[in-house]
Amino acid sequence: MPKASSRGGWDELSDWYDRKQGETGDLWHRTLIDPGLLRVVGNCRGKDVLDLGCGNGYLSRSLAAQHARVTAVDGSSRMIKNAKARDRGSGVRYLRSDAGDLKRLPDSEFDLVFANMSLMDMTDASAERAVGEVARVLRDGGKLVASICHPCFDVMSNSGWAAEKAFGGDALIYRKVRGYRKRFSEDVPWRMADGSKRYTISYHRPLSWYAGVLHSKGLAIIALEEPEPTNEFVEKEREGGDLDGPGLLEVPLHLVIEAIKL
Ligand SMILES: C[S@@+](CC[C@H](N)C(=O)[O-])C[C@H]1O[C@@H](n2cnc3c(N)ncnc32)[C@H](O)[C@@H]1O
Repeated sequence: MPKASSRGGWDELSDWYDRKQGETGDLWHRTLIDPGLLRVVGNCRGKDVLDLGCGNGYLSRSLAAQHARVTAVDGSSRMIKNAKARDRGSGVRYLRSDAGDLKRLPDSEFDLVFANMSLMDMTDASAERAVGEVARVLRDGGKLVASICHPCFDVMSNSGWAAEKAFGGDALIYRKVRGYRKRFSEDVPWRMADGSKRYTISYHRPLSWYAGVLHSKGLAIIALEEPEPTNEFVEKEREGGDLDGPGLLEVPLHLVIEAIKL
C-alpha cells in the first residue's frame, strides 16, 4: 500500500513537481485553474501578497513581476529550496513554514492571500489552523483567494467520468459522484517519467465544511468561480483521449473561493 504524508509526500516529489510546473505552471494550472484564480484577484500591483503552499513559486514570481510584494510559504523545505533556486531577483521572500503556524508573519501584513491548490492537501485540523492564520495576517477588508479540487464534483476515487455513446452520435459525458458528505483522506497517485507512481495525500471535505471554517475565522465568502477550460486545454486533453477536456466544459473540477476578512 502506498504511504504518504502531506508534507513528506510533497517534499519527496518536489524536484518532479518543480520540473512539472516550470516558470508558467503546467497545462492544468496555465490553461484551466490560474486564469480563473487571477480573474478573481484582478491587478495585484502594489499589494502585499502571501502565496500559501507556494510549491515551486512560479505564481509568486509572476505576481512579483506585476509589482506585488510577495511572500511565498511552503511546508516542504525542498519546495522552498527549488523555488529559491529558480529565482532571478524577483524580490519574492520565501519561507519554509507550516501554513497553520505563521508566527514569523505579523498580524495584518497582507492585502491578499493565495492558497492555490494547497488547502485540500492539509489535514482538517491543519487547514482549519491555516485559515485562522490567514485571517490573522490579513488586513481588515483583505481577501483570501483559494483554489481547491471542487468538493462537489471531484471526490477523489469516489468520482469519475462516465461516457455513454448512443445512436452513433457524440458520447454524452456524465460526472459520477458518491460519498460526497464523508470527510476522508486518500493517497493521490502521480505518474513519474519512468512509469512508476508516487503519492501525496489529499483530504475531501464537503463544501459546507469550507464555508463553516471560513465563517468561524471571520472570513466571509464573497464570490465563487468555477474555472472553465480554455480551448488549448480541451484540445490537448482530447488529443490524449482523455475525458477531462470535454467533461470540464460541462462540469467543473476546481473551485476558486474568494473570502473577505470582516
Ligand atoms: C498541489 S501543491 C500546489 C503548489 C502550488 N500552489 C501550485 O499551485 O503549483 C500543494 C502544496 O501545498 C504544500 N503544503 C501542503 N500542506 C502544507 C502545510 N500544512 N503547510 C504549508 N504548505 C503545505 C505542499 O508542500 C505543496 O507545495
